[in-house]
Amino acid sequence: MDREKEKQQRVNRFNRASLIYDDYAESYRKVACRLLMQLDRHGWPPPRRILDVGCGTGHMTQLILEAFPEAEVVALDIADRMVRATCEKVGDDRSRLKVVVGDVEDVDLSGLGPFGLIVCNAVCHWFREPLKTFGRLADNLETGGRLLASIYGPDNCAELGALFGQVEEEWNLPREQHLFPTRSSKEWEELLTAAGLVKIDSWESWMRLEYANGLSFLKAIKAVGEAAGRTSHPLWLQRRILLEVIRRYERAHRCGNGVYATMHFLQFLFEKTDDPSEVMLFK
Ligand SMILES: C[S@@+](CC[C@H](N)C(=O)[O-])C[C@H]1O[C@@H](n2cnc3c(N)ncnc32)[C@H](O)[C@@H]1O
Repeated sequence: MDREKEKQQRVNRFNRASLIYDDYAESYRKVACRLLMQLDRHGWPPPRRILDVGCGTGHMTQLILEAFPEAEVVALDIADRMVRATCEKVGDDRSRLKVVVGDVEDVDLSGLGPFGLIVCNAVCHWFREPLKTFGRLADNLETGGRLLASIYGPDNCAELGALFGQVEEEWNLPREQHLFPTRSSKEWEELLTAAGLVKIDSWESWMRLEYANGLSFLKAIKAVGEAAGRTSHPLWLQRRILLEVIRRYERAHRCGNGVYATMHFLQFLFEKTDDPSEVMLFK
């Protein structure tokens, strides 16, 4: 599929998701708090200008505005309805917020920065060209500026991925990609380093979330984009597989309030520095 068409499909999907996003984005809200708490551990003068990449409905943007009451914040998202939702959520702090509708992989950032902090909560796994995009972000960081990111990890929705595999194997079907493809922590670190940034810290979070039943879990991950794998099975077969996976999920991963699922996030704090040895001393 050509790039523009794929991009438009993604924009449409996120625009639709913006309407129900807040009902399903519990894991992003939790990881957003953990990301900002991690910054505190590294004591550091507050940034004056901050870029929130993939701001979604503005949960992270709001936390950033609260955590840095003097900073100007630029919230950017590829989906216009997400940006609109951010404006509505932020309300009183609107005067310190600039919003931009655009694809971080090709929008011109030069007039907006340079930034002391760039935050990417649950968005980098969407980058088509992560190395190039990290390079663009690094170019728009001040020296000493930081990039703080959370990215789906390989264990995200692991129970579900395993059941898809089980059903396909038993039914003699080729193994397909049903969930969002992920990279390891090491691979992301290599990309960030190749983009010219220096690691300060990295850590991982696993969360257990509970849903009323298998179907509501699947609806949730579809709404927030985690079920955005690629499958070539015909529609009728996809439906059969899905029903079987839900049936097995409800048996295998039952808990008091319905079913549980594991969410896994890799988190990174990187810095743009002229002198990498300083970072080693700081650690
Ligand atoms: C999972 S949501 C992020 C949520 C948000 N950061 C938060 O903390 O609540 C991912 C967001 O990234 C946006 N997005 C995906 N690819 C993008 C790109 N290339 N440029 C800008 N935004 C993008 C989507 O529209 C969506 O709103």
